[in-house]
Amino acid sequence: MTAARLITVGHVTHDRYGDDIVAGGCAFYAARTQAALGADVHLITAVGANFACDDALAGLTVDVTRGGLTTLFTNLYPAGALRVQRIEATAPPIAPPPRLPDAALVHLAPVLQEVDLAAWVAAAGDRPVAIAVQGWIKDRGPGETVVQTPWQVDGALLARVAFAACGEEDLVDQGDLLDRLCRHVPIVAFTHGKRGCDVIVRGRTTKVGIYPHAVEVDPTGAGDTFAAGFFLGLAEGRDPVAAAKLGAAAASVVVEGRGGATLGRVGEAHARVAQIA
Ligand SMILES: Nc1ncnc2c1ncn2[C@@H]1O[C@H](COP(=O)(O)OP(=O)(O)O)[C@@H](O)[C@H]1O
Ligand SMILES: [Mg+2]
Repeated sequence: MTAARLITVGHVTHDRYGDDIVAGGCAFYAARTQAALGADVHLITAVGANFACDDALAGLTVDVTRGGLTTLFTNLYPAGALRVQRIEATAPPIAPPPRLPDAALVHLAPVLQEVDLAAWVAAAGDRPVAIAVQGWIKDRGPGETVVQTPWQVDGALLARVAFAACGEEDLVDQGDLLDRLCRHVPIVAFTHGKRGCDVIVRGRTTKVGIYPHAVEVDPTGAGDTFAAGFFLGLAEGRDPVAAAKLGAAAASVVVEGRGGATLGRVGEAHARVAQIA
């Protein structure tokens, strides 16, 4: 089988872990995941002039605009509570280039409002579009806070999206967003961490489990990696449940290391799929 060509869009970020800065962001996790699973990925991103993680992009085809500051996040996981994110800088938004390469899928994976859905759907033209919802439902709040912001997306625009993925933490304070997604987007995955996910195809839900033998070190990137594998599977023509298993298997590898440390091992996901119920 020839590798599926995917266009993946979003900021590559600097993620702070104590004194270390490592590459992060939904699109970074997604592009590395898709490449590790055998796809031909074209990452379109914007980073600051201070970007210090080019090594993490080695081996990817990257269309990068440099200027301003790199988006900088700190993630905190307080015991028994939801993740707390702090944001110290944001890079400029990512505008679609005048011509996009041919692709089986355009995967939009913003971290924080840097991808304008209407502009990218228009740029995608006939290419199917997939959305990882996370980056549209958060915004920069006062100080260095990240706040949930209701996503008032138009149904007619969502109707131009083929596939969507979101996590249960994304839907806090989002009203009927999941219903709106399921009404307008033919294939939606809704993830629940270690409890697996729901795959919703034209309103019909099927539950998909997790790879049970992962040893979680850091949950960062689970949702991004899941979405990346799920969308790749769909772009390759797998049925939605099989695609969700590929996503779950990919995520199970990523949670085994700090940040993106285990992204290079995501190819192991292919062997894990069979153990997901
Ligand atoms: N500890 C884990 N072991 C195995 N799979 C996991 C684990 N945590 C998450 N996953 C997988 O990753 C998917 C997304 O995780 P989730 O926590 O819902 O995403 P988010 O990063 O958006 O919070 C889950 O549906 C599951 O398949
Ligand atoms: Mg989670």
